[in-house]
Amino acid sequence: MSNPASPPAGRLLDQGYELTFPPGFRWGAATAAYQIEGAAAEGGRTPSIWDTFSHTEGRTVAGHTGDVACDHYHRMPEDVRLMADLGLTSYRFSISWPRVQPGGSGPANQAGLDFYRRLVDELLAHGIEPWLTLYHWDLPQPLEDAGGWPARDTAGRFADYAQLVADALGDRVRHFTTLNEPWCSAFLGYGSGAHAPGRSDGADAVRAGHHLMLGHGLAVQALRAARPEAHLGITLNLYPVTPATDSPADAEAARRIDALANRFFLDPVLRGAYPADLPGDLRQVTDFGHVRDGDLALIAAPLDMVGINYYSRYVVAAPVSGTGPDAYWRAPSCWPGSEDVRFVTRGVPVTDMGWEIDAPGLVETLERVHRDYTDLPLYITENGAAFVDAVVDGRVDDPDRLAYLDAHLRAAHAAIRAGVPLKGYFAWSLMDNFEWAWGYTKRFGLVHVDYDSQARIPKSSARWYAEVIRRNGLAAQ
Ligand code: FCB
Repeated sequence: MSNPASPPAGRLLDQGYELTFPPGFRWGAATAAYQIEGAAAEGGRTPSIWDTFSHTEGRTVAGHTGDVACDHYHRMPEDVRLMADLGLTSYRFSISWPRVQPGGSGPANQAGLDFYRRLVDELLAHGIEPWLTLYHWDLPQPLEDAGGWPARDTAGRFADYAQLVADALGDRVRHFTTLNEPWCSAFLGYGSGAHAPGRSDGADAVRAGHHLMLGHGLAVQALRAARPEAHLGITLNLYPVTPATDSPADAEAARRIDALANRFFLDPVLRGAYPADLPGDLRQVTDFGHVRDGDLALIAAPLDMVGINYYSRYVVAAPVSGTGPDAYWRAPSCWPGSEDVRFVTRGVPVTDMGWEIDAPGLVETLERVHRDYTDLPLYITENGAAFVDAVVDGRVDDPDRLAYLDAHLRAAHAAIRAGVPLKGYFAWSLMDNFEWAWGYTKRFGLVHVDYDSQARIPKSSARWYAEVIRRNGLAAQ
């Protein structure tokens, strides 16, 4: 079958040779500051909760830290050249809060801001649009010491920081994302303790979730005032939640997990109210006394886009009879009030994270957000897979990752055909990096990183992705 070099603009349907994306579709890759930058103590940067956490014994695999990571802080121009070679039209990165505002309050650190000014200038010089995320999990340690996200004041600190970044970079950055995956910050950071700061208290996790969203709302207000032309959004990690069987008890388990994982954030941000069923599910955990009048109106500040990170589906089942919440509810968990729900595996192929590969779940997720919540443009701000890679003769062939990306891009295209206003896709990740509590043991990159030499090798998935971008579409299967 022939593949024309320039597919007809705007043609969406599979014409037997190519699945073409809409004109102007954004093709990107994503990273996060702590996962790639390194230079943890340079240029005036001070510790974040992830520095403290990763330096605490037993918190990360093999004690790995982000001290050096991919050394991106020193290799940034080389990394931007890699992006340009891939043909990326957009690059999603995050700002390290303690690099630009050490301590989390007070004046800006110009040396830190200069790094991001150079990064943005380099991107623009290569025709790559910067997509800036303000918070990808690296809270300045002094703010954690003052109570962290469970403390209301942290929301105000975040808005001040947003203002500082807008003042410094708003002349050259148009796309701002406030938070990356507040579910993880709240429920892994303060519920299970699997992520920094490693605290385990269900009520704190719920408060953290609220104050993260309040910080988002206040930051949107500050950004709008500073830069009326800015394009503002939030990134949520969303999952379809499917009951393991058609029993009413499994349906109830799915409803509870969906409330905590998805609707806890979707409803306040896009509808201005918590879901009606949530307080009942959390009655043993919190009375929501931390929510003040006017908070939800702030949280629901109008946005220009919604970012969705999609990796997998949850399949859940009712608790084993005879246990019940009392047996669990004080144990560290990222599902406060629903600790006893069982997560089951279906025996389908998984990635190196053990996450089930489920491309149809991406279509479901996109359609749900569009149908039930918003007409706003949607962006897939992360999607990708960890697999074990090997360097052989200087090459890295990663057919499993390539197949994962291909399947999910086909799903993205199906969602567009079904009417979802999906405007862009960012692969996670540009390069292998510090995968949080997993350290360097999980590789998600399009580009392989040798952590001893810091050599970068584009994998075969990177070459394939470059071709997808060049065609603005996928070859027929
Ligand atoms: C997401 C995070 C990102 C990365 C991927 C694998 O939850 O936003 O930093 O760790 O998962």
